[in-house]
Amino acid sequence: MSGGPILVFDSGVGGLSVVAALRERLPRAALAYACDNAMLPYGLREDAWLVARILRVCEAAVAVSRCVTLVVACNTASTLALDALRERLSVPVVGTVPAIKPAAALSRSGHIGLLATRATVSRAYTLGLIEAFAADCRVTRVAADALVGEAERWLVGDASDPEVIRRSLVPLWEDPLLDTVVLGCTHFPLLRDVLAAAAPREIHWVDSSEAIARRTAQVATGVAPRHGPGESFVTAADSRLTAGLARFGFAEPQLLALD
Ligand code: DGL
Repeated sequence: MSGGPILVFDSGVGGLSVVAALRERLPRAALAYACDNAMLPYGLREDAWLVARILRVCEAAVAVSRCVTLVVACNTASTLALDALRERLSVPVVGTVPAIKPAAALSRSGHIGLLATRATVSRAYTLGLIEAFAADCRVTRVAADALVGEAERWLVGDASDPEVIRRSLVPLWEDPLLDTVVLGCTHFPLLRDVLAAAAPREIHWVDSSEAIARRTAQVATGVAPRHGPGESFVTAADSRLTAGLARFGFAEPQLLALD
């Protein structure tokens, strides 16, 4: 048995922030990447449609990549479809959910922010995390879907729009005691430096990528060794993604065939 890669899935390029953490923890593991860029952004889509779409894309990507583990590197997908994915797929599935627990532990003031997609900030799953791990905190939930587009632009080398960044963050600064922000969308750590530069004060920015990499290392067995660039899959051809994916160790994207 030669094993297979760990497949990282997201709606777009956000999963690359998780790829970076996986490469740190598992430098010799083969990785593959799949994104549903034809239907980006997920955060503005309707739940029932999204579950069916995520199942369809992940099923196809798992089959074609012959992966041994699927990492759903998308909070919007994980907070909605993890159970359905685990039921449908025969490989282990690692999800990504907002890092509320570490953020609550890190905050000195007990005032934290959650920056995520519109879908993630209002999901029952997210409210459950807040209830379980940050019940004694004040949590400001901010939908920042425009930042998804900014991260996509960053990957292809376009300059970010300072006004979009500024406007997206404004609701966080209404609470002068807020000292910690959860980056609850995998696109956002790609913009960490830009976000930090736009903040009016020093902020702890917390994301889930290291925890996901740790969890993946625990559950992934039979992972093939890394030999050259990993395969990547998209649902819409876009030659502008090639160079950005190559920076993260992936070959030119192939169009994923969906049933
Ligand atoms: N990267 C995804 C997440 O972590 C969402 C981006 C989108 O809205 O498609 O939630």
